[in-house]
Amino acid sequence: MDEKKVKRIGVLTSGGDAPGMNAAVRAVVRTAMSQGIQCVGIRRGWNGLVFSDFVPLKSSDVSHILAAGGTILYTARSQEFLTEEGRQKAVSTCKLLGLDAVVAIGGDGTFRGALELSRLGLDVVGIPATIDNDVGCSHYTIGFDSACNTAIECIDKLRDTMQSHERCSVVEVMGRHAGYLALYVGLAVGATAVLIPERPVDFEKDVVERIRQSRLMGNTHFMIVVAEGAGSAVDIGNRIREETGMDPRVTVLGHIQRGGSPTARDREMATRMGYAAVMALVRGEGNCIVCTHDGHLVTKPIEQALAETKHLQMERYEVLEAMHARN
Ligand code: F6P
Repeated sequence: MDEKKVKRIGVLTSGGDAPGMNAAVRAVVRTAMSQGIQCVGIRRGWNGLVFSDFVPLKSSDVSHILAAGGTILYTARSQEFLTEEGRQKAVSTCKLLGLDAVVAIGGDGTFRGALELSRLGLDVVGIPATIDNDVGCSHYTIGFDSACNTAIECIDKLRDTMQSHERCSVVEVMGRHAGYLALYVGLAVGATAVLIPERPVDFEKDVVERIRQSRLMGNTHFMIVVAEGAGSAVDIGNRIREETGMDPRVTVLGHIQRGGSPTARDREMATRMGYAAVMALVRGEGNCIVCTHDGHLVTKPIEQALAETKHLQMERYEVLEAMHARN
């Protein structure tokens, strides 16, 4: 992107919603205002550009959304944008609206869309937001902390009734193909076992033996956390029933994990990322993603960022195992 002055930008949220998306939208709009840049809200993800679905955003339009879950701009996983025709329509909408750039808030799918758009000549800056925390270029994604806290709150409640009935509970958490949510939550609730896609499951060792050891430690209720990418909680529950004779209860937390007011961490991160995205454009730095790296915010070119991968820190699994040590 050259040094020409940015006058008007679009902002959109795309993919699965995540608590903190609104805080990021607010930060983008407010920072843009502070730099004399006009803002247009693009609704329903990339579909908003394909179908000209937009709303002008002033500072007052984003008042009181900092603490709200969901996204005021709505979100979608656009099928139309995956086609050449759809992307051409999106570029036409940007021209019609006089947009110099678009800030896209979402996950990897959103950023692949951003890359396609940038290849057609539009400047795009990405902000990572997904409860899965599975964006390879960024250590952290907006929404992860809130989703963990929601899951923990639910599982703490489950524990009360599981403890009273001396039962085994199998809880499925989201995360798509990643186990970040399951492992963090498993550590935070003191799970008996955690099953994640990053680690092949040995049912006898990872589940049955864990329950046995926990029983020997004196426990009479057991909490098994399953990442959706590691298998179905219903299947795991059935297998536990067959192999242990217990009568487990299965809970799929589902979309409840994506709702609710963002935590302090997500509000703060979203605000800083929104600011950083607009300031990158002001510096003439387009086609990048705002990422966290060792606690700092950095920008990385989209193509390079999309090629990056990150790995779940398996030390966390070792910590979990140590919590089951017995003398
Ligand atoms: O990517 C966020 C996420 O919530 C995943 O954890 C989950 O697999 C998926 O979205 C669910 O998508 P949908 O909202 O389309 O059911």
